[in-house]
Amino acid sequence: MNTQSQSVFRFYNNLKLGQKLSVILLLIFIVGSLLSGIALSHVLTKNTEREITSQALILMDTMNSVRDYTSTQIKPELDDRLQEEFLPQTVPAYSATEVFQNLRQNQNYEQFFYKEATLNPTNPRDKADDFETQIIQKFRSGSIAKSVEGFRQIDDQEIFYIARPLQIKKSSCLECHSTPDVAPVSMIKRYGAERGFNWNLNEIIGSQIVSVPASTVIESARSAFILTMSIVLGIFASVILLINFWLRKTVVRPVVRMTKTAEMVSQGDMEIEFIKSSGDEIGELADSFSRMKTSFMLAMKKLNEMRRKNKEAN
Ligand code: HEC
Repeated sequence: MNTQSQSVFRFYNNLKLGQKLSVILLLIFIVGSLLSGIALSHVLTKNTEREITSQALILMDTMNSVRDYTSTQIKPELDDRLQEEFLPQTVPAYSATEVFQNLRQNQNYEQFFYKEATLNPTNPRDKADDFETQIIQKFRSGSIAKSVEGFRQIDDQEIFYIARPLQIKKSSCLECHSTPDVAPVSMIKRYGAERGFNWNLNEIIGSQIVSVPASTVIESARSAFILTMSIVLGIFASVILLINFWLRKTVVRPVVRMTKTAEMVSQGDMEIEFIKSSGDEIGELADSFSRMKTSFMLAMKKLNEMRRKNKEAN
């Protein structure tokens, strides 16, 4: 033991019983609340991430389902009319983006975003911004394969995003996205011949990105943390206070009282009694002291008698 821990040990050893207990309970309190705080925060963080991720994934899959519906059910139905005029409603990218716009009319989803961010888009609203361009470049270079997710800050809002690559997997896509001369005339009329062309088969041309607001979920996790920790700390503190109170009442005070009584007996006061206030070890101690006092008194009496007899004999 080094000198420092020796002096800490001596300091602790010289404390009163109640103080010792308070020190121990305080240590338990601090360590206990730290551990439970860390554990709780870990669980809540995991839950928050899971909740936000699942929201984003559901939206992503719903949008893909809208895309499928458009290409398998809407487009074939309107193929005839497509010869005369171009109907963007038959384009999966368009229907998914529009459906999401509708969803955002609902106040609960105002903060949600969906974008088919593309480097060279047919519709300018799909143009990838700097952040999205970086993600797309990573998909194109192969440094990320399937999907990427994370948090980003937009207008002071914590946003969680999931991005997946948009790849040209079918040659049918190239009917409209290869060169303007093969694309439907009606489409060129509407969108022009500058954008959304020269895509190649299997090329990754963009990224589907779903963004969901994280602030509300994080906020509610934070208040859950504060509430739970207050309850835990409250219970901890009351238990510690109760134990302390109980120890003072059942151990410390009776022992102090007995010490005083023993002191007075040692000074010759034989009238005073050891009070037994409980049936536990402290009570037994009081009993033993009482018996000791009685034996002590008897011994004194005998001693006095012997002295008297000795005197008389002399
Ligand atoms: C009939 C023509 C046509 C075909 C076939 C077609 N697209 Fe498009 N695509 C469009 C048009 C028009 C838009 C712009 C829609 C809008 O206004 O939002 C578009 C938009 C997109 C976008 C959004 C980015 C952008 O360019 O604005 C993606 C991604 C996309 N298409 C991928 C595909 C894929 C993948 C296929 C094959 C499965 C495909 N397209 C087949 C006409 C077509």
